[in-house]
Amino acid sequence: MNYNKADFIASYGISSQLPESDRPELSFSGRSNVGKSSLINKLCSRKNLARVSSTPGKTATINFYAVDDCYFVDLPGYGYAKVAKSEKWRWAELIEGYLNDQERDLALVILLVDMRHPATRLDVDMVNYLIETERPFLVVLTKADKLNKTERAQRLAAIADEFPCGEDLTVVPFSAETGEGVEVLRGILEELAAPEDEA
Ligand code: GTP
Ligand code: MG
Repeated sequence: MNYNKADFIASYGISSQLPESDRPELSFSGRSNVGKSSLINKLCSRKNLARVSSTPGKTATINFYAVDDCYFVDLPGYGYAKVAKSEKWRWAELIEGYLNDQERDLALVILLVDMRHPATRLDVDMVNYLIETERPFLVVLTKADKLNKTERAQRLAAIADEFPCGEDLTVVPFSAETGEGVEVLRGILEELAAPEDEA
């Protein structure tokens, strides 16, 4: 995949506006502030393709980026307590409307979890939903630069037990600060986007 061929397409505030799924989509989901937009920027080696903010709730729409022959889809973050209830409903409608759309070519859902903290109830709900709906997904543990060696080992050992899929879970530690994990992730996405190249 040519990550240099990355362009912002559009933002969508309600699920009925979403464009037809005419390319494989890689979707980035997770709590507010977990680092979804930073991960997209890092994968594409760009500073400001997706807007990053230290204030949770920055991405309040579904944002589509065309990256080579795929779409990268930046989903609004969930679980941010300070967002107004009406906004939370709108975001939930957006995320559900997007993921429930059977017509969408969802090649992979990338679920981001802050490596410093155990997975939350909402992360587990998301994994259950992805398993039930048979959507392929993997977990990226973000902000890996903030942990020391011992903390890293603890989190890596614990994460599989926090989700209902045990050892089958693919987990990639990642840091947008140091670039750790970016090549591993690119390798995984590469295989998904162009499986015919394997032969
Ligand atoms: P919402 O759009 O609000 O849902 O957030 P998001 O998940 O898109 O997070 P975003 O990429 O905007 O990053 C949130 C904050 O975390 C910003 O201050 C980033 O600079 C910081 N951040 C993201 N990734 C990393 C990382 O790997 N390491 C460190 N140290 N900080 C990070
Ligand atoms: Mg964001």
